[in-house]
Amino acid sequence: MSSSAPDRGQWSSQIGFVLAAAGSAVGLGNIWRFPYSAGQNGGGAFVLVYLLCVVALGLPVMLLEVSLGRATQKNPVGAIRAFRPGGGWPALGYLAIVTGVGILSYYAVVAGQVLAVFIDSTQKIFSGQSHLHTLGPGGILLCFAAFLLLTLLVVVGGVQRGIERWAKLLMPLLLLVMLAIIARGLLLPGAMEGVRWLVTPDFSKITLGVVLDAMAQAFFSLSLGMGAMLTYGSYLSRRQNLVQCASWVVASDTAVAILAGFMIFPAVFALGQQPDAGPNLIFKVLPAVFNGMPGGEVIGALFFFLLSVAALTSTVSLLEVVSAFFIDELGWSRRRTVWSAAAVTFVVGIPAALAWVSVSPWSTVRVLGRTGLFDLMDFLFTNLSLPIGALLLCVFASRVWGLGRASDEVLSSSPRFSSVAAIWRFFVRWVCPLFIAVILLTRFLPVG
Ligand code: PHE
Repeated sequence: MSSSAPDRGQWSSQIGFVLAAAGSAVGLGNIWRFPYSAGQNGGGAFVLVYLLCVVALGLPVMLLEVSLGRATQKNPVGAIRAFRPGGGWPALGYLAIVTGVGILSYYAVVAGQVLAVFIDSTQKIFSGQSHLHTLGPGGILLCFAAFLLLTLLVVVGGVQRGIERWAKLLMPLLLLVMLAIIARGLLLPGAMEGVRWLVTPDFSKITLGVVLDAMAQAFFSLSLGMGAMLTYGSYLSRRQNLVQCASWVVASDTAVAILAGFMIFPAVFALGQQPDAGPNLIFKVLPAVFNGMPGGEVIGALFFFLLSVAALTSTVSLLEVVSAFFIDELGWSRRRTVWSAAAVTFVVGIPAALAWVSVSPWSTVRVLGRTGLFDLMDFLFTNLSLPIGALLLCVFASRVWGLGRASDEVLSSSPRFSSVAAIWRFFVRWVCPLFIAVILLTRFLPVG
């Protein structure tokens, strides 16, 4: 099934893939979305359900996506078409492309705000002045555009010279900065209360809503359900061990999410702040946290630098999914594709950007129980589209691709996988699709 065009690009090594894929996985999802979701959903209880979802759903689906990518050496639409050219299945590939643009269009808004806070905090260090209160609609659109531009510049560079090179430089740096901030936070008096809150599950807090949020968060954080890992897997060579690749990405993403919890909540508790502040947790609460610490300005600047870096390696993967589709299927040049995709994303993201700074009617509309267009997009693309994409991919693998062929693909480079292959097939065939379907249905159908 290998008909890869020679100039599609390939990772230079397994570690190149792991860093790029971990770069995709580790992002605002871990450091912005995970802490605020945990903060709203009872702390330890949410963390526990999240971890279960990562192991039971995230790991099997990760291996599946990466394998399908490598087996076909294609983008999401091409990968499906490789086995079923006609019928309805290619729609699953198109759903991935649309979800890519959808997530990127609001994700880059938050990332733009992170960039603005970072630039502002360096100015604070040097001139003692903050200008951020002036960030209105024009400012947020500018930062949004700037972030898309940064993303585009990396993606234009291609697989090895663009994505892989930057991930190799930035990912290790990210880990170092996080560890420094955690150490600082844990030294604050009262920090232990935050640690306790994070590690003690209160089971009365676990509702269906919490389970859906935790499941969606797991897919979002692992970049699953919209073809990002499939696309990155398509740049893997036949020699690379898929089980190792998938496990490293899942383990590092989970570790960073947990570390993010330890980076944020001890400090939040030590300074008497509330953990359930919502999407603004890091923007409203953290500056106060940093203000209250000795050396907080430098730590604050480091933190927002780190977050910009983490977000960039994720937006790169979102744009790469869309680009791979146009390059493979329509024969567009990388440059033309990347600029066009970024332009479309910008236009799609304008309403979400305005809703994010609450200056437009879009910030107060109520649709599907969500207030504001920003929340609505997050809900549609993350809570619905990713679990649905993952579910359909599992069904596709068992009914069209064939789980025998899927495990052969994994086995071809990881012979020791044979001892657990049957368990994996069981999860892909039954556990993952049924679990996802039951959660979605019980949450959205008025049952009982
Ligand atoms: N995983 C990224 C994060 O946690 C977000 C993302 C989702 C990236 C889906 C690609 C695809 O920030």
